[in-house]
Amino acid sequence: MSTVGLHIAAFESRRGEEMARLIERHGGTPHVSPSMREVPIEENKQAIDFAHRLITAEIDVVILLTGVGVETLTQVVERHIKRERFLTALADTKTIARGPKPVAALRRLGVKPSFQADSPYTWREILQLVDRYVPLAGLHVGVQEYGITNPSLIAGLEARGATVIPVQIYRWELPIDTTPLNENICAILDRKIDVALFTSANQANNLLALAQQQGLLDALHEALQSVVVASIGPTTSHFLRERRITVDLESDTHKMGQLVALATRCAPDVKAQKEKLSKFLSSQLTAVTEQQREPAWQQSIFLRACRREPVPRTPIWLMRQAGRYMKEYREVRAKTGFLELCKNPSLCAEVAITAAERLDVDAAIIFSDLLPILEPMGLELEYGQGEGPIIHNPVREGEDVNRILALESVDSLHYVMDTVQQTRAQMAESMPLIGFAGAPFTLASYTIEGGGSRNFLHTKTLMYRNPAAWQSLMDRLVQSITLYLNAQIAAGVQAVQIFDSWVGCLSCDDYRKFVLPHTRQLIQGLQGGIPVIHFATGNPALYPLLAEAGGDVIGVDWRIELDAAWAAIGEDRGIMGNLDPMTLLAPEDHIREAARDILSKAAQRAGHIFNLGHGILPQIPVQNVILLVESVKALSAR
Ligand code: CP3
Repeated sequence: MSTVGLHIAAFESRRGEEMARLIERHGGTPHVSPSMREVPIEENKQAIDFAHRLITAEIDVVILLTGVGVETLTQVVERHIKRERFLTALADTKTIARGPKPVAALRRLGVKPSFQADSPYTWREILQLVDRYVPLAGLHVGVQEYGITNPSLIAGLEARGATVIPVQIYRWELPIDTTPLNENICAILDRKIDVALFTSANQANNLLALAQQQGLLDALHEALQSVVVASIGPTTSHFLRERRITVDLESDTHKMGQLVALATRCAPDVKAQKEKLSKFLSSQLTAVTEQQREPAWQQSIFLRACRREPVPRTPIWLMRQAGRYMKEYREVRAKTGFLELCKNPSLCAEVAITAAERLDVDAAIIFSDLLPILEPMGLELEYGQGEGPIIHNPVREGEDVNRILALESVDSLHYVMDTVQQTRAQMAESMPLIGFAGAPFTLASYTIEGGGSRNFLHTKTLMYRNPAAWQSLMDRLVQSITLYLNAQIAAGVQAVQIFDSWVGCLSCDDYRKFVLPHTRQLIQGLQGGIPVIHFATGNPALYPLLAEAGGDVIGVDWRIELDAAWAAIGEDRGIMGNLDPMTLLAPEDHIREAARDILSKAAQRAGHIFNLGHGILPQIPVQNVILLVESVKALSAR
């Protein structure tokens, strides 16, 4: 497919003709249909009520989202209230303008905004600004909205303790004549469109609304999978993704011309890739339906053991099986920083698969780390040379918790979901793939200590002295981890593991009081019906409580004998463990004996997965790890 003759759909209304000309100038065939009509809300009671409350100083902060909105608001209000009074009240209130357009509109009215959010002017920048300069706890915040409400912004403000008063100024309705928009939907359904351009979330909203009215929503979604979708910027992309439309291209300038140029330049390549993928997926689908079979991983000994079904031998995999103890990994790391590696899905897939194949283990775990999830939650993460991770802005005081953002989407962690997809696609179908995340306590401890810790002094100080702040931090973590693990499940993992690596520093009472309800909520929020491995180290007395919090398989360390641990956990769960990783420094015979001992404690009961009690350390010789895997396979044959 050449650039010339690309069929490009766009949904511009006021600037429709300009868009069509731009597309033609870039050699494309335009299919531009207006998608919306601006309808001012004439008798806008909400706006008038808002103006009254502003004048009586009941509103502490006003967030202005659009220029046209600021102007229309003033016009609506001045029919009922003296313009001067309204503008003086606005000038006396803290105002936050989302970007240059509302700033310019305010200036024209003689009001200087108190704050202006940074580029790219999405709700995230507004929340960042608020976190830096405008504490909102207990305040009333007016939000001048545009068209569709932005639930992420409102939830973010409420999470910071504000009472939000939304003011809808105008809404975007479907045009009176929907024929052209309908024709565009049909053209997409007939596969006549190569590229769809969206320059606002409202356009997508109305396109989907019309399709829904006609009962064509599912068909449109399916057809859009083979169309190259280009978006003007992050706000529009966010909306599209929320409505299950894949965004292939995003312009970084917010200019129509740039968007058309980007789309015409990149569309042929992107389209070819999308076609290849959709052919592959549909061939997979027909293969599966033709043979009426489930994917091969379902009968793997790892998943059978997770389900506590009988197996011909004990499955084995090893925590931190991809890491510095392995030459192949060190070679990759010589060229790439650790965080950079985590953000490179194809390298992550390579590292995970190489390790699983080299060791010949029974499951692969995605390559990532516990802590990248903390970045979009507002923490500055760094992996120092040779040391552990560092967080530069840890939470210390109760009020610091307010700047920790509960994730509302996993957009910013898309590289992890890409890693899942690529690892899954490149691996043998019989090999199950494990996704993972840190448990709420372990992530809270990093968030508060700012790194590793011996005594967890700061963590326990906050936990004991400020239970409300602790609760709020755990709530934010649970919401974020749930979203993150569900996204990994949707992207294609066969099991998930929750690492509570540092929870062993707690007593049983403290675990029950400060941790158990949160971890339980997390596990209950996981979807997809796949096995959950719940792992902790350090304090064997906690294992029954871990089981109470949830998990199909409990991961245990070497500080307790496997049979005693299993008895404490209960027969209705699987168990994973539990060789001391340091054993791998011992002579071969010792390693073999230690493996035999653990297997004898498991006594071939269904539901045992062999693993270490904690991650492999960099100092461990790789041949000893291979020896362990071979020994477990040989010694456990039924
Ligand atoms: O192969 C695998 O198991 C998958 C990848 C994986 C890593 N970390 C890669 C990694 C997994 C599952 C983790 C989990 C993890 N990360 C845990 C829980 C498991 C455990 O061992 O307790 C914890 C506590 C972390 C946090 C973390 N990440 C620490 C403390 C460190 C530094 C110490 C160390 O072992 O290097 C990391 C860095 C890290 N995570 C590395 C790897 C391969 C080493 C980074 C490097 O290449 O320099």
